[in-house]
Amino acid sequence: MNPLSVDADAPVLLTGATGLLGRHLHRRFADHCRLVPLGLSRQPSGGLTADLAEPSAADALLATVRPGLVIHAAALADVDACEGDPARAWRLNVQATALLADALARHCPDARLIHISTDQVHDGPGPHGEDAAAPANVYALTKLWAEEKALALPGALVLRTNFFCRDGGLAGWALAALETRQPITLFDDILFNPLYVDDLADMLAALVRRGAAGRVNLAAAGPGLSKGDFIRRLAAAFDLPLDQATAGASRHRPGTARRPRDMRLSTDRLAALLGHEPSGVDDGIRRLQAAGRRAREAGGDDG
Ligand SMILES: NC(=O)c1ccc[n+]([C@@H]2O[C@H](COP(=O)([O-])OP(=O)(O)OC[C@H]3O[C@@H](n4cnc5c(N)ncnc54)[C@H](OP(=O)(O)O)[C@@H]3O)[C@@H](O)[C@H]2O)c1
Repeated sequence: MNPLSVDADAPVLLTGATGLLGRHLHRRFADHCRLVPLGLSRQPSGGLTADLAEPSAADALLATVRPGLVIHAAALADVDACEGDPARAWRLNVQATALLADALARHCPDARLIHISTDQVHDGPGPHGEDAAAPANVYALTKLWAEEKALALPGALVLRTNFFCRDGGLAGWALAALETRQPITLFDDILFNPLYVDDLADMLAALVRRGAAGRVNLAAAGPGLSKGDFIRRLAAAFDLPLDQATAGASRHRPGTARRPRDMRLSTDRLAALLGHEPSGVDDGIRRLQAAGRRAREAGGDDG
């Protein structure tokens, strides 16, 4: 079955396919549709490279590929890099999205745009609904502007999310540190409700099949948890020692950008659109563990 339910002849353009999220989406959807993965400095297997922030490049790409669906996961997602170079953050996050939406409107007006955004657009106490936003840093501000550019296209779907996987991000970093017994700090003052990346992909596909549009929070069910507790749960699930971990406050973390403390997203709209509650953080950790086990048995990487 084609999980994205697009016309078999219409390509699905996946931007950011060489990134952390894009690699997972590529793997999840490649066998089920005519996926065209796009990178910038790295060429994804079977895919293309183009700088979406270059007007002529975005236009030529869309004129050639003529997708029926675009999953836009390309971004400058490094929060401190955005803070250090706001012009680059604007170019990669805002301008690239605006050019993509313009080129889509010109060359494939019936195509749907799925834009990946972030829980970082929030500040203040959560859980946050889709109507709220209070960007606390350059990354958040440029991602919020990018949402507006995407939503200029009729039928566009903006997914505010946070995710975890084995090969990067917080979970990848924490598991590697715990396995090698490096000292780490557990922040109990930053709250979120991240999804396991395969759950994210499954729910993204379900929302596309249901024709969802506008802003939707794509996050785990439940009350959320602190980053410290997330790492404690990972350690328990993977049977790893926490003796090198100490609890601490996020104000002592390295990095220049101000970080929001409570990024928990309300999942009410998501549950209504799906017709059921999304999976929870612990479900995701179990799936992460099971994927690792299967990959080890098959001798592959365990995403
Ligand atoms: N990572 C997280 O924890 C997290 C959490 C919440 C939301 N998000 C959102 O999820 C999405 C994916 O994040 P990620 O962590 O996967 O990012 P990532 O690993 O840094 O990957 C970024 C991707 O964007 C591509 N790219 C950057 N600028 C481009 C341009 N001008 N033209 C074409 N491609 C360009 C990169 O290509 P090359 O690598 O080939 O140069 C790469 O494939 C982003 O929208 C991010 O805001 C991420």
